[in-house]
Amino acid sequence: MDTIEAIKSRRSVRAFTDENVSDEVITQILEAGRWAPSGLNNQAWRFIIVRNPGTKIELLKLTNYGPTIKIAPVLIVVFLDKDHMYNYVKDVQSIGACIQNMLLTIHSMGLGGVWLGEILKNKEIVNNILGAPGSLELMGVIALGNPVHKKMISERKELDQLFYKEKFGKSQ
Ligand SMILES: Cc1cc2nc3c(=O)[nH]c(=O)nc-3n(C[C@H](O)[C@H](O)[C@H](O)COP(=O)(O)O)c2cc1C
Repeated sequence: MDTIEAIKSRRSVRAFTDENVSDEVITQILEAGRWAPSGLNNQAWRFIIVRNPGTKIELLKLTNYGPTIKIAPVLIVVFLDKDHMYNYVKDVQSIGACIQNMLLTIHSMGLGGVWLGEILKNKEIVNNILGAPGSLELMGVIALGNPVHKKMISERKELDQLFYKEKFGKSQ
C-alpha cells in the first residue's frame, strides 16, 4: 500500500472478529514501531503484549472503551521508560510516532486497530494489573485484530483552517 493511501485510508477500528493474530504478525507490527524516529534516537518506548482473557477483563473495567478491549484478540500496551528518558516532551512525542507507525502497519496488513488513550486516567492501576514496574509510564493501548468490515468514515479540518499567515510573507 502506498504511504499516502495508507495514511488517508486508516481508520480507528473498534470491532473485531474472533480470528486470532499470530505472534509473527505482532512482531512485524512492533518492528515498525521500533523504527520510528525519536529525539536523540532515545527509543524510550517499551511494550507489553496482552492476550490473556483474564487480564483483559481486568483492563476493560478501567476505560469507557472496555467493549473494544474485550473483543480485541491482542493489545499492545505502550509505555515510556522513565529510567531512560532524556526529555519528557520529546520522548512522549517519539512514542506518538511509534504508535502511529504501528497503526499504519496494522492497517496495511489488512488488520484493524485503535489507539486507546482514555484508559490513561487509570494508568497506575494498569501497571499493577500488568505487573509493570513504576518506571514505566503508560502512554497508550493499541487494541487490534481482524476488523469487522464496515465502511468507516472520519473527518478532518480543512487545511486552510490550520494556517496562520507568515508574518513577513509576501503581500499579494
Ligand atoms: C492520543 C489518542 C487517544 C485516543 N483515545 C481513544 C480512546 O480512548 N478510545 C477510542 O475509541 N479512540 C481513541 N482514539 C482514536 C480517535 O478517536 C480517532 O483517531 C479519531 O476520532 C479520528 O478517527 P480515525 O482514527 O478513524 O481517523 C485516540 C486517538 C489518539 C491519537
